[in-house]
Amino acid sequence: MIIAIDGPAASGKGTLGRRLAEHYGYHHLDTGLLYRAVAAALLEAGDPLDDEAVAVGMTSRIPLDGLDAPALSTHAIGEAASRVAVMPGLRAALVDRQRAFAAREPGAVLDGRDVGTVICPDAAAKIFLVASPEARARRRAAQLGLHSQEGYRKVLEDILRRDERDTNRAVAPLRPAADAHLLDTTDLDIEAAFRAALSIVERAGERS
Ligand code: DC
Repeated sequence: MIIAIDGPAASGKGTLGRRLAEHYGYHHLDTGLLYRAVAAALLEAGDPLDDEAVAVGMTSRIPLDGLDAPALSTHAIGEAASRVAVMPGLRAALVDRQRAFAAREPGAVLDGRDVGTVICPDAAAKIFLVASPEARARRRAAQLGLHSQEGYRKVLEDILRRDERDTNRAVAPLRPAADAHLLDTTDLDIEAAFRAALSIVERAGERS
């Protein structure tokens, strides 16, 4: 079974994906890490973030297993990832490997922006997470240890900028698949969001 989780920055996709994968004993891929890894490699090499051929060349070096999530989780790399992710050729270069991961037995959970729409349109369960930008900024600021009002405001601005770029790009924009279940986590803690997601997946499993 394939479980697709999509949603905007800091909507809790990663945490939910990990929890669902643990619950079912499935493989888990945070697809955002692929774009983050390409962005980090470009930054490190001092290459521009908008050269498609160079970015595509980086993809062969990126392992699907064992990507270093903490090292890739910085603010700067997230912003750069959102910029490289607008390039159609880079997205195309990453599709087959994501699909191969999704086909792993006994099942897989993939989270990102286009899993339900482009990577796994036939996924048995699709969840599209939503949460107000303010709720997402509060969570992200807390994760980053930013407790001042100024810190919160910077994170909020960053989230709004990334929402705008991820939603309005020409290729594979962030949007729910027609058959995705919307889950609003604005007022839910992690445990409540997990239970709600589990019930969506259980119902989808009964139908498939
Ligand atoms: O989920 P994240 O913050 O780690 O993602 C970083 C950026 O990567 C995000 O702003 C857009 C891009 N991304 C994407 O375009 N498609 C995906 N499936 C996952 C991430």
